[in-house]
Amino acid sequence: MFNDFKVTGGRPVYIQLKEYLKRMITNGHLLVHQKLPSTRELSFLLSISRNTVLTAYADLEQEGYIYAIKGKGNFVSQVETSKAPTIELNWSDKINDQTFLANELDLMKKGVNWNKETIFFTSIAPDENLFDVDNFKRAFINRMSIEGNAILNYGYAKGYKPLIDYLLHYMEIKGVDITNKAILITNGFTEGLDIVLSSLKKNNGRIICENPTHHSALKLFQLHGFEIHGIKMDDDGVHVKHLEQSLAEREYDFAYLIPSYHNPTGIVTSSEKRMELMDLFSKFNLPIIEDGFNEELRYSGSHLAPLISFAGLGNNVIYISSFSKILFPGLRVGWVLADKDLIYYLESVKRARTIHTSTLDQAVLYQYLQEGYFEKYLKKAKSVYKKKYEIAVQYCKLYIPFKRMTGDGGLHLFIELEETIDSRKLLEKCYQKGTVFSPGDVFYTDGSGKNTFRLGFSRLKEKEIIQGIKIIGDELKNMMEAKK
Ligand SMILES: Cc1ncc(COP(=O)(O)O)c(C=O)c1O
Repeated sequence: MFNDFKVTGGRPVYIQLKEYLKRMITNGHLLVHQKLPSTRELSFLLSISRNTVLTAYADLEQEGYIYAIKGKGNFVSQVETSKAPTIELNWSDKINDQTFLANELDLMKKGVNWNKETIFFTSIAPDENLFDVDNFKRAFINRMSIEGNAILNYGYAKGYKPLIDYLLHYMEIKGVDITNKAILITNGFTEGLDIVLSSLKKNNGRIICENPTHHSALKLFQLHGFEIHGIKMDDDGVHVKHLEQSLAEREYDFAYLIPSYHNPTGIVTSSEKRMELMDLFSKFNLPIIEDGFNEELRYSGSHLAPLISFAGLGNNVIYISSFSKILFPGLRVGWVLADKDLIYYLESVKRARTIHTSTLDQAVLYQYLQEGYFEKYLKKAKSVYKKKYEIAVQYCKLYIPFKRMTGDGGLHLFIELEETIDSRKLLEKCYQKGTVFSPGDVFYTDGSGKNTFRLGFSRLKEKEIIQGIKIIGDELKNMMEAKK
């Protein structure tokens, strides 16, 4: 500011300064009650005498442009300013169809009003009370001191190299053959999926997936203009016969599957079925997008290898996962593991869109993982979630007259009621009693599932889980009674 003031010959300098300041005030560049530089500062800044500034300020004060407060300095008075004309645009007229669709599908905007006492079964986010903030702080300080200021500069679109190497090894331990495979770090699973969907050619514009499935994935498929075909699920994963029939009848661009703690059903696809699925997709030469978001949250039995590990050296599986459920969703760190030729192209899309995921976040996460805090956290979190899971299962069996309940672990259960019961009507009744859950229809590809709902228990206290389930059970029994 003030560096565009140029003294010209012919007129006294104090008048030139006065007019310059007047213009600054009337143009709105100096705001009402803004403090002006002291006469000493301004004379130094403009290389003019202090007396010149004093005289200009005195004149401006006399003309009402500025006012002085003893011992504090000079300030801009309230004067008429000429502002740029304001215009009122109607932004709704300028919004495109894709954005209207995103708005229409945005469940967050349609959430119910809540108060502190409401029991929320709607969330499947981790319980932040479990986060070990002290170790995270330690990881932050350690990594900052190792990396120094470079960590705050631009990084690489592919991601932070030590984290990529850590994850490659992590996936190798899960049984994945990482030969000719590479990783792209993304802002959570959701960005990974968005990048993949933006990058693949739409040959027939059709996707095949489990029915029901992850709502955010459905939303992205729709926003990318894909037609979605859902296959019903058995208790051990997708119904293979129906899948095979659909694959034989029509062509698809790819399949999207959530083999472990599927959202919303909580079903874990059995090992045998994973093998069967891989055989089937190989037969139809179809790429698979595997969503591995939750697979660490197994409370009993041994770990089930992801589909990508069954692919061996094959390259038809694009595995996308994140630390959102197993650690901290707020970090927004996820990864895509796939054929290195595909990652090569995805890297350019990532660079074009967001340049890269925050290096600081990736580096601190890497330090946290490398120091072994993750395993400790996971052990603790799993024991807490296991208890909540067991309580939820026990009390659902006790209080809710369901037709089918699924959920082999993870952070939620899925309930199917008698056909005649509309879960949104049940939700209305439960809401009056201070309990809410996610109506199941939002997860279905074909508008069905009106008699289903998802119960997320991860963030609730044990007594809230029991109390909430009892409320749902009582309201449901009342509805069933009224229908008799
Ligand atoms: C099926 C599924 N995949 C992935 C995610 C995680 O997405 P993000 O990493 O973008 O938070 C979720 C979160 O709820 C999910 O339900």
